Amino acid sequence: MSHTACSYILDKLKAIENPVLGLSTGATPEGLYRYLIQSYQEKKVSFQNLKTFNLDEYINLDKNHPNSYFHYMQKRFFQYVDILEENQNLPNGKAENLKAECQAYEDKISQAGKIDLQVLGIGVNGHIGFNEPGTAFTSRTHVVTLDDCTRTANAKYFASLNEVPSKAITMGIKTIMESKEIVLLVTGRKKASALKRLLNGEVDEEFPASILKIHPNATIIADEKALIELS
Ligand code: GLP
Repeated sequence: MSHTACSYILDKLKAIENPVLGLSTGATPEGLYRYLIQSYQEKKVSFQNLKTFNLDEYINLDKNHPNSYFHYMQKRFFQYVDILEENQNLPNGKAENLKAECQAYEDKISQAGKIDLQVLGIGVNGHIGFNEPGTAFTSRTHVVTLDDCTRTANAKYFASLNEVPSKAITMGIKTIMESKEIVLLVTGRKKASALKRLLNGEVDEEFPASILKIHPNATIIADEKALIELS
């Protein structure tokens, strides 16, 4: 899955002069980042003209906290490649005025032009970014309260469930849908039901990823375990 995703994404980026790439975090894209780093080290690609926007960030975690998404991106991707620091964008979860931060993030995305390609993962409850079930399809970058199941799923990265932040900033569903292209990565047995529901179910705000069915250019790259519930 990661290798396919890497080749797919690099082909797309190479065809665009100043590409804008939307990035996600979590366990799913870790392999993708490893392959992207490898491609850079083998001099198959340069990211000097690339601008990136991450989907989300926890609120109230210091940037350099080992579980902040800022830290995740530095550790798993940015520090190994030539993406200019000023071109790496994540929401600031420590902003004093969170509402203004959300608007500023939207503005930055608009100023960059549209996101050419947004990489997504999916939560077991169908969330994309941190847009939990029930989020309006019209939503833009906003503050969210995380579902218990999302906090539980992400607790593996923290010392205990109590330490998982309860809030985050996330790109909204409308923001995500405005990307010119979307690539959804799905891996592992735990995501099999979500993938089945995505492919077979209705477009429904109770299952945020379902909106991707009406995106004009969305691709799913999944591994065999994630596909196990589909005939
Ligand atoms: C996380 C992130 C999402 C991610 C999803 C799946 O909480 N906010 O951007 O795509 O949930 O995470 P994982 O890949 O670890 O299963």
